[in-house]
Amino acid sequence: MTDSLSHFKQQILNDFNNRKSYENEFHKRAANRLVEVAKLRSNQQVLDVATGTGLVAAAAARIVGDAGRVLATDFAEGMLRQAKQKVAFLGLKNIELASADADEQEFQENQFDVILCSCAIVYFADIPQVLHRWYKALKPGGFIAFSCLAETSPTSSFLFREVVQKYGVAICNPNELLGTQQKCCRMLRSIGFENIEIAIEQFGFYLQDAEAAWNGNANSAFGLQEVHWSQQQLEQCKQEYLDAVKAAASEQDLWNDVTMFFVVGRKPHQ
Ligand SMILES: C[S@@+](CC[C@H](N)C(=O)[O-])C[C@H]1O[C@@H](n2cnc3c(N)ncnc32)[C@H](O)[C@@H]1O
Repeated sequence: MTDSLSHFKQQILNDFNNRKSYENEFHKRAANRLVEVAKLRSNQQVLDVATGTGLVAAAAARIVGDAGRVLATDFAEGMLRQAKQKVAFLGLKNIELASADADEQEFQENQFDVILCSCAIVYFADIPQVLHRWYKALKPGGFIAFSCLAETSPTSSFLFREVVQKYGVAICNPNELLGTQQKCCRMLRSIGFENIEIAIEQFGFYLQDAEAAWNGNANSAFGLQEVHWSQQQLEQCKQEYLDAVKAAASEQDLWNDVTMFFVVGRKPHQ
């Protein structure tokens, strides 16, 4: 699979394959909230796309019960390995884990009652196309539930992109396409989804360590890998970022806003 991946996707894959410890309070809280907004019921056929370590899939499997089933997919074998360990440890028999790239994943029509995707839609190369595929894969009356970030979140990354842009480096905002409630609604309606509901939750925190935020942003798949700066240019840009964080901070610290949307859309019955 990896030979044909774009450079950007390969970076994402490497990043997740190399994560030794993934689950933190943020990921657990976001996964639980998604399961909550999805209002799952027993007997449902569920697909969890980009399942990671299976946080959402495991919670969903408990709810849908023995007569239900969860298919959980991800393209990072490292994450799937952790998900397999979790499923075995919990003794869940109604989950199937499979390797799949969400951008390439084909389904039978009218297959699932629910399609879930927590904290991952942002990584897909062609989000509208993926949503179209999910729409077809849903049974009439079925629904999707996914989470995504506001286009201004996290503040630390927003500032990062603003500063590096002054140095001639344009980094696309990964949250731009679905970054407002209006954009989410418009996108889902254009595909045919209805009864769209969006819950908003704040996952922000005081930044505390601006240097770590610089390093995280610079090294991430959405960061500076492709950029060949001299050490001096790098240091200068970094200093400007640290200054921008300081300028945007209150007396206490920079509030790193992390606004998350939990979006639900239904495929009409007919
Ligand atoms: C931030 S994690 C979220 C994992 C899980 N859904 C959760 O909420 O804990 C993002 C996941 O998306 C997966 N991913 C990214 N791009 C993908 C793609 N194109 N196809 C399948 N999985 C993908 C990564 O491997 C990673 O496991």
